[in-house]
Amino acid sequence: MTTLERAEAAEHALSQELDRVVVKSVIYTSGERDPRVPAPRPPDSGKRYMMGQDPRLPQMPARPTLVDYFKYRFGPANHLLQSARLAQKSGASEKVILACLVHDIAIAGFIRGDHGYWAAQMLEPYVDEEVSWAIRYHQALRFYADESVGYKYPELYSKLFGPDYQPDEYIARDYAMARNHKWYMTSRLICVNDLYAFDPDVQVELEEFTDVIGRNFKQPKEGLGWDSSPSAHMWRTIMCPTKYL
Ligand SMILES: [Fe+2]
Ligand SMILES: [Fe+2]
Repeated sequence: MTTLERAEAAEHALSQELDRVVVKSVIYTSGERDPRVPAPRPPDSGKRYMMGQDPRLPQMPARPTLVDYFKYRFGPANHLLQSARLAQKSGASEKVILACLVHDIAIAGFIRGDHGYWAAQMLEPYVDEEVSWAIRYHQALRFYADESVGYKYPELYSKLFGPDYQPDEYIARDYAMARNHKWYMTSRLICVNDLYAFDPDVQVELEEFTDVIGRNFKQPKEGLGWDSSPSAHMWRTIMCPTKYL
């Protein structure tokens, strides 16, 4: 058996134990599998398909808030919490603190590639336009130094991507545009407060930012994901990542 076959066999065994059939979206497996090849279907033996919250995950409350997504669906948020704390300590505005707190939520709970663009889109209906703008463009700005605020090209990137890595053309283009935008510095401050290595000794609790979130994030009364904003479906996907349709 290849590694992939073993993983698939394990998954089939797992889905046998569930009373619902789980079929993963192509994006979860593309790369491990060739997306052009039909995915093997789990033996459903008369079972129903997953159409709600996956029982293997902690259940989200009926009307979830942003904080609930942090608690139940996002990976460890140390990086975000420490970035927000750093921004707060430097006397940054609440917009910047909130932007730092949520700038990498796509990595924490959704999709890594182009994470700044994804996060901005998810947040756009619920935050000030300047906040989502800043999050969108931190994606590009992080690859370019700005000595005026002491931001250097991250050493970590040279390690991760190689010393001669060049950002894609659309990143260079978005950087050039953002560099001359009135909100440039808001986005740049995300990079300045972005910690590339989190400090394991610093514990920051999400509750420290309850007020900042309360004042700057428009929580929909129906629950985040159950509202009808242009990005509500993205939150629902995070809530129910294995929903069949
Ligand atoms: Fe980021
Ligand atoms: Fe970050």
